[in-house]
Order: sequence, then structure tokens, then C-alpha cells
Amino acid sequence: MGIRLRNPVIAGSSGLTSRPESIIELARHGVAAVVLKSLFEEDMALQARQHVTHPATRMDDYLRLIETAKQRLDIPVIASVNCISPHEWTGFSRKIVSAGADGLEMNMFVPPSDPMKNSEENEKLYFEIITEVRRQVKIPLAVKISPYFSGMTKMALKLSWTGINGLVMFNRFYSPDIDIEEIRVVPGRIFSTPDEIAHPLRWVAMLSDRVMCDTAGSTGVHDYTGIVRFLLAGAKAVQIVSAYYENGPSYTEKLLEGLTAWMERHNFDNINAFMGKLSLKKTENPAEYERFQFLKTFSSIE
Ligand SMILES: Cc1cc2nc3c(=O)[nH]c(=O)nc-3n(C[C@H](O)[C@H](O)[C@H](O)COP(=O)(O)O)c2cc1C
Repeated sequence: MGIRLRNPVIAGSSGLTSRPESIIELARHGVAAVVLKSLFEEDMALQARQHVTHPATRMDDYLRLIETAKQRLDIPVIASVNCISPHEWTGFSRKIVSAGADGLEMNMFVPPSDPMKNSEENEKLYFEIITEVRRQVKIPLAVKISPYFSGMTKMALKLSWTGINGLVMFNRFYSPDIDIEEIRVVPGRIFSTPDEIAHPLRWVAMLSDRVMCDTAGSTGVHDYTGIVRFLLAGAKAVQIVSAYYENGPSYTEKLLEGLTAWMERHNFDNINAFMGKLSLKKTENPAEYERFQFLKTFSSIE
């Protein structure tokens, strides 16, 4: 995104980045940047409509959070909005800038649930939102996308041509599950597992040297190997959430120790020396990424 970081570890948007105290703890233990908990478009639209009667809203709290974080931290603070339309709320992106945010991440997902809309109609909204926000603010913009696009490569390319500075791959959704004893729908796993890195890893590798912006890997980084793998695939940084919930803010120290020891073992004295070494364009065998159906690996298992 054009933001200089002291290391590649970013604390992703979550409840852990919704209060100054927990953000300060994350920073104290070495995290390079934080993405604040998302402000939802609905909250911003509500404020736009009710400003006179309800002046103190979540939006004001959010702006105060940015201001406090900026006053008390020496690392970049990236605000986050969860948005699905280019309407009322976009004016607030300017307030986010005035409050001091170093960047803005837009978490976007337009659910493709309307049977009357094709993918092109759904996707149009992404571009309308970005165009409007880009018009309002000049700070670095990232878009956090979902893994669900029918034409992922073209979509990622087109998004990167809009003037955004970063693509975060991917957001992880809440999923319902089914309890077969109680025979009812229950919440699925809130936290990711290490094997969930596989899907974003492939797409970071396939897209990082094709898109016109930086990429950040997100979902499934639970130890230093996840950081190394995303960087090798071409990401400039990684975002971590579940591992912080599970291990606490001091986990960054362990992650960075692991990363440094790995770099020493492999004689890399800086991150640029290996970043993107295994992206689709640079790897010796690109088919490893592009083969989605079982080929050698699975057919050799009997
Ligand atoms: C408790 C919790 C709250 C989250 N809140 C947000 C949010 O407000 N905005 C957002 O973009 N992502 C949110 N996320 C998603 C994370 O930023 C991240 O994309 C996801 O957890 C995958 O990363 P991980 O595997 O490191 O957990 C949340 C995740 C968790 C577990």
C-alpha cells in the first residue's frame, strides 16, 4: 500500500483491534501495523440520517479510536469499513482521514443471493464503491475481498486497476453449521485453522505479480511458516487474527523469531530477497498452482 512497515505482520481487523488498550498491547509486542475493527456501512448511514438527534454514535467512537490509536502508537493505523453500497457512508471516509488513519481497508462482499442478478451486475457495485471512495480520499486504500468470484483473476486485475493500493486475500466468513444431535443450526468455527491458508496462498501466488497493487495474505496464518509461505507466494505482508485470539498479543515475538531463524537458515538477509520467489510467474512449475483438479498427486494415492 506504499506504507513502510517494520516487519510483515499486521494484526487484522477484529475485536482485538476495537479498543486502544488491546491495540497498544499488540504494538508493544512488535506487530507492524493494525487494521481496526470494521465500522459497518449501516452505522455510518444511520449517523448520516440521524445526526441532529443522535450526535454521539458508533461513528464518533470510531473516530476517537483512530485518534487515540494514532496518539499512542508509532505504527500505522489502518481503518476498516464494511461496505456494500456507494451511498451516504462514503462521505465519512473523509472523517476517517481527518482522524489520522494511515490507510483505509474496505471489506466488501456483495452476497450473490439475488437470482435475478448475474455476476457482472453484482460486481459492478465493487467498482462504484471504490470509485466513490477514491474520489473522496487520497490515503492508501486496500480492498479485502472474498474468495468467491466466478472470474477471480480478471476481477482481481480490474480491482487493481482502479487505483487501490492493496488487495487483501481473503476475508473469512462466519459459516453456520449443523448439530446432528440437537438437529439444529449452530454457529460454525469462529477461528480459522492452519490448513485454511491453502486457498488464499494459491491465489496470492497466482495474482501477486499480475495485479497493479500490493497483496496481503489473510486467513490461516498460525505460525511463522504461514508468514514465510505467503511472502514466498508474493504477498508484501500478512494479516493475523485467529492466532492472536488463541495465543495473545505477545505471539508476534514468537512469529518474528521463527521468521528470522528461517531467513538465517536460508541465508536471506532481507525480506525482498525471497518475497515472491514462488509466485506463479517465478516458480519453475506454474502448473502446481493452476491444476485445480486431481492430477499426479492424487492419482498416485491408491
Ligand atoms: C472475532 C472476529 C472478529 C472479526 N471482525 C472483523 C471485522 O470487523 N472486519 C473484518 O474485515 N474482518 C473481521 N474478521 C475477520 C478477520 O479480519 C480475518 O479476515 C479472518 O479472521 C481470517 O484471518 P485469521 O485466519 O488470521 O483469523 C474478524 C474475525 C474474528 C475471528
